[in-house]
Amino acid sequence: PQPTPQYRPAYHFSPAAHWMNDPNGMVYYKGTYHLFFQYYPDAMVWGPMHWGHATSTDLVSWKEQPIALYPDKLGWIFSGSAVIDVNNTAGFGKDAMVAIFTHHSSEEEKKGQSKHEYQSLAYSLDEGKNWKKYEGNPVLPNPGIADFRDPKVSWYEAGKKWVMTLATKDRITFYSSPNLKSWTKESEFGEKLGAHGGVWECPDLFPLTLNGKTHWVLIVNLNPGGPNGGSGTQYFVGSFDGKTFTPSSTDTKWADYGPDNYAGVTFANTGPRRIFMGWMSNWNYANQVPTAPWRNATTVARELALQQVGSQLYLVSQPVKETTKLFSSATTLKDLAVNKELDLTAKLKSVGDKFQLKISAKQLASFSVVLSNAKGEEVVIGFDKPTNRYFIDRTKSGQTGFSDKFAGRHTAPRLATTPQADLTLLVDATSVEVFADQGLTVMSELFFPTEPISTLRVYSGTGFQIQELTYAPLAPKAQ
Ligand code: FRU
Repeated sequence: PQPTPQYRPAYHFSPAAHWMNDPNGMVYYKGTYHLFFQYYPDAMVWGPMHWGHATSTDLVSWKEQPIALYPDKLGWIFSGSAVIDVNNTAGFGKDAMVAIFTHHSSEEEKKGQSKHEYQSLAYSLDEGKNWKKYEGNPVLPNPGIADFRDPKVSWYEAGKKWVMTLATKDRITFYSSPNLKSWTKESEFGEKLGAHGGVWECPDLFPLTLNGKTHWVLIVNLNPGGPNGGSGTQYFVGSFDGKTFTPSSTDTKWADYGPDNYAGVTFANTGPRRIFMGWMSNWNYANQVPTAPWRNATTVARELALQQVGSQLYLVSQPVKETTKLFSSATTLKDLAVNKELDLTAKLKSVGDKFQLKISAKQLASFSVVLSNAKGEEVVIGFDKPTNRYFIDRTKSGQTGFSDKFAGRHTAPRLATTPQADLTLLVDATSVEVFADQGLTVMSELFFPTEPISTLRVYSGTGFQIQELTYAPLAPKAQ
């Protein structure tokens, strides 16, 4: 395939070449954010998995580093997490960076015994540059469950032990360990709760505080069975006592309603901040998207918090504050009346394909924002009042024929109950991430126009009054 530099995102991580999927082992250490990721360095499609590596000091500009983990005789290196072993519990060394990942043996898989996935360790004593696999691998053998993977490990301070949250087919299994090497099963969760349209993968468990009270959030990715088809990220809010997770509600909740945010989990070792990043794609077509010489990227990093609406607790995600500095020379327009169509391109003088757009209104009504190019290809983002849903329509967004699951209109419920509303859109050449109502409803969506986005208009059939609109292009130095 021809290289597609025009599709290269500027402020999302994508590997220089070849295939990537899930973010792995995300950890902050000594001023640097480490992102490892599912990587196949020999092709632009999924294959024998490695852990690629990238680093950043600000979560928005990423530098790709040499591959961290290569497949070995125990198998390919599937998803997992990383911790900083401050107390040297494993004995690898003080402050060792320890990766806990799934070994996936395709040879064992062929034997059909359902025991081909097990959890292993590797560690680095030089900030993720050089890695050694632990000679005692695997540390958690397979009990006979075909899908037994994606360990997310964190330190549970109240019990002074490590807790592993593991995806085990149709449920989560929690394990604990004093030293990362020997693991004891604590409990299972979710066999009959939440969405089960596909296998459960890439979980995460972490506390968040709201009004002085600590709640535990359990993230469970699943594929298929997402809210708009294919891959999706659901979560539960509840309590955790070091052994058992107890949900406070049985409703199914989604961290992102767009089709293109999967396998997201949070960084370790970030103190009070809880920072989430996902893979900005969907297994429905990730192997077919028309980019070269790489395939796929991450979402922007998002800071998580909890918000109460009625009797329910929801996760809210906002782009991390570091994102703000990417955008400069903002134009703010106030009190814009939208009756039918409002041509923003004329008002803004020029529109690029990498920008942040913020819109606020005192009274939310049906409206849409149309991103398009000279060929009339368009991505339509908006709100539909009768159904109380936000939507993104990429039906006519350019290249869509690479998969019959790509084109379409995707929707998300508005969870906020206030009349006033605000939306932040982050556009980066081939993606839009929509954070509505301070991140209570989020949608992430890819699109591949045959020439870059260059016009912006707002449309409302019933009339919509914008209180304030701010367009800020990506600063030249961030390109
Ligand atoms: C999720 C996933 C994980 C697995 C990895 C393999 O996208 O299927 O469950 O570890 O990708 O690349």
